[in-house]
Amino acid sequence: MMSNAATLAVENLETHFLTKAGVAKAVDGVSFTVGRGEVMGLVGESGSGKSVTGFSIIGLVDPPGEVVGGQVLFNGENLLELDEERMRKLRGNRIAMIFQDPMMTLNPVLRIDTQMIETLKAHDAGIKDDEARARARDVLGQVGIPSPDERLKAYPHQFSGGMRQRVAIAIALLNRPDLIIADEPTTALDVTIQGQILYEAQKLCRETGTALIWITHDLAVVAGLADKICVMYAGRIVEQGKLDDVLDHPVHPYTVGLLGSVPGHNTRGHRLYQIPGMTPSLLKLPGGCAFKERCPRADAACDVHPEITEPVAGRQVRCCHPHLEGQAAS
Ligand SMILES: Nc1ncnc2c1ncn2[C@@H]1O[C@H](COP(=O)(O)OP(=O)(O)OP(=O)(O)O)[C@@H](O)[C@H]1O
Ligand code: SF4
Ligand SMILES: [Mg+2]
Repeated sequence: MMSNAATLAVENLETHFLTKAGVAKAVDGVSFTVGRGEVMGLVGESGSGKSVTGFSIIGLVDPPGEVVGGQVLFNGENLLELDEERMRKLRGNRIAMIFQDPMMTLNPVLRIDTQMIETLKAHDAGIKDDEARARARDVLGQVGIPSPDERLKAYPHQFSGGMRQRVAIAIALLNRPDLIIADEPTTALDVTIQGQILYEAQKLCRETGTALIWITHDLAVVAGLADKICVMYAGRIVEQGKLDDVLDHPVHPYTVGLLGSVPGHNTRGHRLYQIPGMTPSLLKLPGGCAFKERCPRADAACDVHPEITEPVAGRQVRCCHPHLEGQAAS
Protein backbone atom coordinates (compact mmCIF):
# COMPACT_ATOMS: atom_id res chain seq x y z
CA MET A 1 0.00 0.00 0.00
CA MET A 2 2.24 2.75 1.30
CA SER A 3 5.45 0.95 0.50
CA ASN A 4 7.41 4.09 -0.35
CA ALA A 5 6.10 6.38 2.34
CA ALA A 6 7.83 6.40 5.70
CA THR A 7 6.02 4.81 8.63
CA LEU A 8 6.72 7.97 10.59
CA ALA A 9 7.51 11.41 9.23
CA VAL A 10 8.05 14.09 11.85
CA GLU A 11 8.08 17.56 10.34
CA ASN A 12 9.20 20.67 12.12
CA LEU A 13 7.94 19.49 15.49
CA GLU A 14 7.92 22.07 18.27
CA THR A 15 7.12 21.34 21.89
CA HIS A 16 7.37 24.05 24.52
CA PHE A 17 7.18 24.03 28.30
CA LEU A 18 5.59 27.16 29.62
CA THR A 19 7.24 27.55 33.01
CA LYS A 20 7.26 30.44 35.46
CA ALA A 21 10.87 31.09 34.55
CA GLY A 22 10.08 31.31 30.84
CA VAL A 23 9.44 29.18 27.77
CA ALA A 24 11.66 26.12 27.38
CA LYS A 25 11.75 25.01 23.76
CA ALA A 26 12.33 21.35 24.53
CA VAL A 27 11.73 20.34 20.91
CA ASP A 28 12.52 23.08 18.45
CA GLY A 29 11.96 22.35 14.78
CA VAL A 30 12.68 18.61 14.76
CA SER A 31 12.24 16.69 11.48
CA PHE A 32 13.08 13.09 10.59
CA THR A 33 11.57 9.98 9.03
CA VAL A 34 11.67 6.30 9.95
CA GLY A 35 10.64 3.63 7.46
CA ARG A 36 9.39 0.05 7.77
CA GLY A 37 11.88 -2.18 9.54
CA GLU A 38 14.24 0.74 9.93
CA VAL A 39 16.10 1.54 13.15
CA MET A 40 16.80 5.15 14.06
CA GLY A 41 19.07 6.12 16.94
CA LEU A 42 18.07 9.35 18.69
CA VAL A 43 21.14 10.45 20.60
CA GLY A 44 21.92 13.39 22.85
CA GLU A 45 22.97 14.50 26.31
CA SER A 46 20.60 14.67 29.24
CA GLY A 47 17.97 17.37 28.74
CA SER A 48 18.44 17.61 24.97
CA GLY A 49 14.78 16.77 24.31
CA LYS A 50 14.86 13.08 23.38
CA SER A 51 12.07 11.89 25.68
CA VAL A 52 9.90 14.93 24.98
CA THR A 53 10.24 14.15 21.25
CA GLY A 54 8.96 10.62 21.96
CA PHE A 55 6.09 11.86 24.13
CA SER A 56 5.14 14.45 21.51
CA ILE A 57 4.86 11.77 18.82
CA ILE A 58 2.51 9.61 20.88
CA GLY A 59 0.48 12.49 22.27
CA LEU A 60 1.55 12.19 25.89
CA VAL A 61 2.92 15.65 26.60
CA ASP A 62 1.29 17.03 29.73
CA PRO A 63 1.01 20.66 30.83
CA PRO A 64 3.02 22.82 31.27
CA GLY A 65 4.26 21.18 28.07
CA GLU A 66 2.49 21.64 24.76
CA VAL A 67 3.10 20.66 21.16
CA VAL A 68 2.90 24.03 19.47
CA GLY A 69 3.89 23.28 15.90
CA GLY A 70 4.70 20.78 13.20
CA GLN A 71 3.29 17.51 11.98
CA VAL A 72 3.63 13.90 13.03
CA LEU A 73 2.63 11.80 10.03
CA PHE A 74 2.09 8.18 10.96
CA ASN A 75 1.31 6.10 7.86
CA GLY A 76 0.36 9.39 6.28
CA GLU A 77 -2.03 10.53 9.02
CA ASN A 78 -1.21 13.56 11.17
CA LEU A 79 -1.32 12.32 14.76
CA LEU A 80 -1.42 15.85 16.11
CA GLU A 81 -4.94 16.20 14.71
CA LEU A 82 -6.40 12.99 16.16
CA ASP A 83 -8.76 13.05 19.12
CA GLU A 84 -7.73 11.38 22.38
CA GLU A 85 -9.88 8.30 21.75
CA ARG A 86 -8.23 7.50 18.36
CA MET A 87 -4.83 8.26 19.80
CA ARG A 88 -5.36 5.85 22.70
CA LYS A 89 -6.36 3.11 20.25
CA LEU A 90 -3.22 3.70 18.18
CA ARG A 91 -1.05 3.61 21.28
CA GLY A 92 -2.43 0.24 22.28
CA ASN A 93 -2.11 -1.24 18.83
CA ARG A 94 -0.01 0.37 16.15
CA ILE A 95 2.47 2.42 18.21
CA ALA A 96 4.21 1.35 21.38
CA MET A 97 6.52 3.33 23.61
CA ILE A 98 8.97 1.87 26.08
CA PHE A 99 9.40 4.52 28.71
CA GLN A 100 12.65 5.57 30.28
CA ASP A 101 11.18 4.42 33.58
CA PRO A 102 10.20 0.78 32.85
CA MET A 103 7.71 0.92 35.70
CA MET A 104 5.65 3.29 33.56
CA THR A 105 5.09 0.32 31.25
CA LEU A 106 5.01 -2.46 33.83
CA ASN A 107 2.46 -2.79 36.58
CA PRO A 108 4.36 -3.72 39.77
CA VAL A 109 1.49 -5.69 41.33
CA LEU A 110 0.70 -7.90 38.33
CA ARG A 111 2.54 -10.97 37.17
CA ILE A 112 4.18 -10.69 33.76
CA ASP A 113 1.82 -13.26 32.21
CA THR A 114 -1.26 -11.34 33.40
CA GLN A 115 0.09 -8.12 31.88
CA MET A 116 1.02 -9.74 28.60
CA ILE A 117 -2.28 -11.58 28.24
CA GLU A 118 -4.21 -8.38 29.03
CA THR A 119 -2.25 -6.53 26.36
CA LEU A 120 -3.03 -9.21 23.81
CA LYS A 121 -6.72 -9.23 24.73
CA ALA A 122 -6.98 -5.47 24.48
CA HIS A 123 -5.96 -5.87 20.86
CA ASP A 124 -7.83 -9.07 20.06
CA ALA A 125 -10.72 -9.75 22.44
CA GLY A 126 -11.33 -13.19 20.93
CA ILE A 127 -7.88 -14.63 21.61
CA LYS A 128 -7.99 -17.76 23.81
CA ASP A 129 -6.05 -17.86 27.08
CA ASP A 130 -3.72 -20.67 26.09
CA GLU A 131 -3.09 -19.07 22.72
CA ALA A 132 -2.28 -15.74 24.42
CA ARG A 133 0.01 -17.46 26.91
CA ALA A 134 1.87 -19.27 24.14
CA ARG A 135 2.37 -16.02 22.26
CA ALA A 136 3.56 -14.25 25.42
CA ARG A 137 6.06 -17.04 26.05
CA ASP A 138 7.34 -16.93 22.47
CA VAL A 139 7.87 -13.18 22.52
CA LEU A 140 9.67 -13.31 25.89
CA GLY A 141 11.98 -15.92 24.40
CA GLN A 142 12.52 -13.78 21.30
CA VAL A 143 13.77 -10.82 23.33
CA GLY A 144 16.32 -13.05 25.04
CA ILE A 145 14.66 -13.95 28.35
CA PRO A 146 15.86 -17.38 29.45
CA SER A 147 13.26 -19.95 30.62
CA PRO A 148 10.32 -17.81 29.47
CA ASP A 149 7.78 -20.31 30.80
CA GLU A 150 8.95 -19.82 34.36
CA ARG A 151 9.60 -16.11 33.98
CA LEU A 152 5.99 -15.54 32.90
CA LYS A 153 4.95 -16.18 36.50
CA ALA A 154 7.31 -13.58 37.94
CA TYR A 155 6.54 -10.02 39.06
CA PRO A 156 8.43 -7.05 37.57
CA HIS A 157 10.61 -6.52 40.67
CA GLN A 158 11.96 -10.05 40.29
CA PHE A 159 13.80 -9.01 37.12
CA SER A 160 17.09 -7.15 36.86
CA GLY A 161 17.03 -3.71 35.18
CA GLY A 162 18.14 -5.11 31.83
CA MET A 163 15.67 -8.00 31.96
CA ARG A 164 12.87 -5.63 32.93
CA GLN A 165 13.62 -3.58 29.84
CA ARG A 166 13.48 -6.77 27.76
CA VAL A 167 10.07 -7.54 29.25
CA ALA A 168 8.88 -4.03 28.36
CA ILE A 169 10.08 -4.60 24.80
CA ALA A 170 8.33 -7.96 24.69
CA ILE A 171 5.07 -6.27 25.71
CA ALA A 172 5.62 -3.59 23.08
CA LEU A 173 6.16 -6.25 20.42
CA LEU A 174 3.14 -8.39 21.37
CA ASN A 175 0.70 -6.76 18.99
CA ARG A 176 3.23 -6.32 16.20
CA PRO A 177 3.00 -2.52 16.07
CA ASP A 178 4.17 -0.42 13.12
CA LEU A 179 6.30 1.77 15.35
CA ILE A 180 8.16 1.33 18.62
CA ILE A 181 9.80 4.20 20.46
CA ALA A 182 12.19 2.82 23.07
CA ASP A 183 13.57 5.25 25.63
CA GLU A 184 16.58 3.71 27.31
CA PRO A 185 16.41 3.54 31.11
CA THR A 186 18.53 6.22 32.80
CA THR A 187 19.67 3.84 35.50
CA ALA A 188 23.14 3.35 34.07
CA LEU A 189 22.69 0.02 32.39
CA ASP A 190 25.88 -1.25 30.90
CA VAL A 191 26.51 -0.04 27.33
CA THR A 192 27.19 -3.63 26.26
CA ILE A 193 23.90 -4.86 27.72
CA GLN A 194 22.04 -2.01 26.02
CA GLY A 195 23.69 -2.99 22.76
CA GLN A 196 22.59 -6.60 23.21
CA ILE A 197 19.01 -5.59 23.95
CA LEU A 198 18.94 -3.26 20.94
CA TYR A 199 20.40 -6.07 18.83
CA GLU A 200 17.48 -8.37 19.71
CA ALA A 201 14.91 -5.62 19.22
CA GLN A 202 16.43 -4.61 15.90
CA LYS A 203 16.38 -8.19 14.60
CA LEU A 204 12.70 -8.58 15.46
CA CYS A 205 11.73 -5.21 14.00
CA ARG A 206 13.48 -6.02 10.74
CA GLU A 207 11.48 -9.25 10.53
CA THR A 208 8.12 -7.67 11.25
CA GLY A 209 8.70 -4.38 9.41
CA THR A 210 8.31 -2.42 12.64
CA ALA A 211 9.99 0.99 12.61
CA LEU A 212 12.13 1.46 15.72
CA ILE A 213 13.36 4.63 17.39
CA TRP A 214 16.00 3.90 20.00
CA ILE A 215 16.63 6.81 22.39
CA THR A 216 19.98 6.86 24.13
CA HIS A 217 22.49 9.31 25.59
CA ASP A 218 25.31 7.07 24.42
CA LEU A 219 26.27 6.94 20.75
CA ALA A 220 28.22 3.76 21.39
CA VAL A 221 24.97 1.86 22.05
CA VAL A 222 23.57 2.43 18.58
CA ALA A 223 26.89 2.11 16.73
CA GLY A 224 26.65 -0.81 14.31
CA LEU A 225 22.95 -1.40 15.08
CA ALA A 226 20.94 1.56 13.79
CA ASP A 227 20.41 2.45 10.13
CA LYS A 228 20.28 6.16 10.72
CA ILE A 229 21.02 8.53 13.52
CA CYS A 230 19.75 11.87 14.75
CA VAL A 231 21.99 13.79 17.13
CA MET A 232 20.07 16.19 19.36
CA TYR A 233 21.40 19.21 21.16
CA ALA A 234 19.27 21.68 23.13
CA GLY A 235 15.99 20.69 21.48
CA ARG A 236 17.29 20.55 17.92
CA ILE A 237 18.65 17.86 15.68
CA VAL A 238 22.11 19.15 14.86
CA GLU A 239 23.19 16.30 12.60
CA GLN A 240 21.41 13.39 10.98
CA GLY A 241 22.24 10.84 8.36
CA LYS A 242 23.10 7.21 7.77
CA LEU A 243 24.73 5.85 10.89
CA ASP A 244 27.90 4.55 9.26
CA ASP A 245 28.44 7.77 7.34
CA VAL A 246 28.00 9.89 10.45
CA LEU A 247 30.35 7.71 12.49
CA ASP A 248 32.99 7.69 9.75
CA HIS A 249 32.79 11.39 8.95
CA PRO A 250 30.86 13.42 11.49
CA VAL A 251 30.55 17.00 10.27
CA HIS A 252 28.82 18.86 13.12
CA PRO A 253 31.32 20.00 15.77
CA TYR A 254 29.12 18.51 18.50
CA THR A 255 29.10 15.07 16.85
CA VAL A 256 32.82 15.38 16.21
CA GLY A 257 33.25 16.09 19.92
CA LEU A 258 31.09 13.13 20.93
CA LEU A 259 33.14 10.85 18.73
CA GLY A 260 36.40 12.50 19.71
CA SER A 261 38.00 9.48 21.32
CA VAL A 262 36.31 6.78 19.29
CA PRO A 263 36.42 7.52 15.57
CA GLY A 264 35.37 4.99 12.96
CA HIS A 265 33.11 2.00 13.15
CA ASN A 266 34.57 0.29 16.12
CA THR A 267 32.78 2.35 18.71
CA ARG A 268 30.74 -0.30 20.45
CA GLY A 269 31.47 -0.73 24.10
CA HIS A 270 33.75 2.29 24.36
CA ARG A 271 33.12 5.18 26.67
CA LEU A 272 32.53 8.47 25.01
CA TYR A 273 34.70 11.51 25.24
CA GLN A 274 33.24 14.22 27.45
CA ILE A 275 32.90 17.55 25.71
CA PRO A 276 34.09 20.33 28.02
CA GLY A 277 31.39 22.64 29.37
CA MET A 278 27.79 22.04 30.26
CA THR A 279 24.59 21.63 28.32
CA PRO A 280 23.04 25.09 28.44
CA SER A 281 19.70 25.50 30.21
CA LEU A 282 16.92 25.79 27.66
CA LEU A 283 15.81 28.93 29.46
CA LYS A 284 19.21 30.56 29.03
CA LEU A 285 20.25 29.59 25.53
CA PRO A 286 22.77 31.85 23.87
CA GLY A 287 21.44 33.66 20.80
CA GLY A 288 22.30 31.86 17.56
CA CYS A 289 23.79 28.38 17.73
CA ALA A 290 23.09 26.73 21.09
CA PHE A 291 26.46 24.93 21.00
CA LYS A 292 28.38 28.18 20.62
CA GLU A 293 29.85 28.35 24.12
CA ARG A 294 31.37 24.88 23.86
CA CYS A 295 32.31 24.90 20.21
CA PRO A 296 35.97 25.18 19.14
CA ARG A 297 34.85 26.54 15.74
CA ALA A 298 32.53 29.25 16.99
CA ASP A 299 32.90 32.74 15.54
CA ALA A 300 30.67 35.73 14.86
CA ALA A 301 28.76 33.87 12.14
CA CYS A 302 27.40 31.54 14.83
CA ASP A 303 25.44 34.37 16.44
CA VAL A 304 22.74 33.66 13.88
CA HIS A 305 20.65 30.54 14.45
CA PRO A 306 22.03 28.04 11.89
CA GLU A 307 19.52 26.69 9.39
CA ILE A 308 19.51 23.06 8.28
CA THR A 309 21.81 22.46 5.30
CA GLU A 310 22.97 19.36 3.43
CA PRO A 311 26.73 19.90 3.12
CA VAL A 312 27.23 16.21 2.29
CA ALA A 313 24.69 14.15 0.33
CA GLY A 314 22.10 12.61 2.64
CA ARG A 315 23.30 14.53 5.70
CA GLN A 316 21.32 17.28 7.42
CA VAL A 317 23.34 19.58 9.60
CA ARG A 318 22.71 22.73 11.62
CA CYS A 319 26.08 24.47 11.57
CA CYS A 320 27.67 27.26 9.58
CA HIS A 321 31.19 25.75 9.85
CA PRO A 322 30.75 21.99 9.39
CA HIS A 323 33.83 19.76 9.27
CA LEU A 324 34.15 19.13 5.56
CA GLU A 325 37.92 18.66 5.53
CA GLY A 326 38.84 15.16 4.42
CA GLN A 327 35.23 14.45 3.54
CA ALA A 328 34.87 11.92 0.74
CA ALA A 329 33.71 13.67 -2.43
CA SER A 330 29.96 13.33 -2.74
N1 LIG B 1 7.74 18.77 33.13
C1 LIG B 1 8.58 19.66 32.63
N2 LIG B 1 8.52 20.95 32.99
C2 LIG B 1 9.36 21.88 32.46
N3 LIG B 1 10.31 21.61 31.56
C3 LIG B 1 10.42 20.34 31.16
C4 LIG B 1 9.58 19.30 31.66
N4 LIG B 1 9.94 18.14 31.07
C5 LIG B 1 10.95 18.43 30.23
N5 LIG B 1 11.24 19.75 30.28
C6 LIG B 1 12.27 20.45 29.50
O1 LIG B 1 12.50 19.70 28.34
C7 LIG B 1 13.89 19.45 28.20
C8 LIG B 1 14.09 18.13 27.53
O2 LIG B 1 13.69 17.09 28.40
P1 LIG B 1 13.80 15.57 28.00
O3 LIG B 1 13.19 14.81 29.12
O4 LIG B 1 13.22 15.36 26.66
O5 LIG B 1 15.36 15.33 27.93
P2 LIG B 1 16.13 13.98 27.53
O6 LIG B 1 16.94 14.28 26.33
O7 LIG B 1 15.15 12.88 27.46
O8 LIG B 1 17.12 13.81 28.76
P3 LIG B 1 17.53 12.49 29.58
O9 LIG B 1 18.64 11.87 28.81
O10 LIG B 1 17.99 13.02 30.89
O11 LIG B 1 16.33 11.63 29.70
C9 LIG B 1 14.46 19.56 29.58
O12 LIG B 1 15.78 20.00 29.54
C10 LIG B 1 13.56 20.60 30.22
O13 LIG B 1 14.06 21.89 29.93
S1 SF4 C 1 27.18 26.99 14.17
FE1 SF4 C 1 29.15 27.73 14.97
S2 SF4 C 1 29.00 27.39 17.18
FE2 SF4 C 1 27.41 26.16 16.22
S3 SF4 C 1 28.32 24.19 15.95
FE3 SF4 C 1 28.64 25.30 14.04
S4 SF4 C 1 30.64 26.28 14.27
FE4 SF4 C 1 30.01 25.62 16.31
MG1 LIG D 1 14.80 11.24 28.57
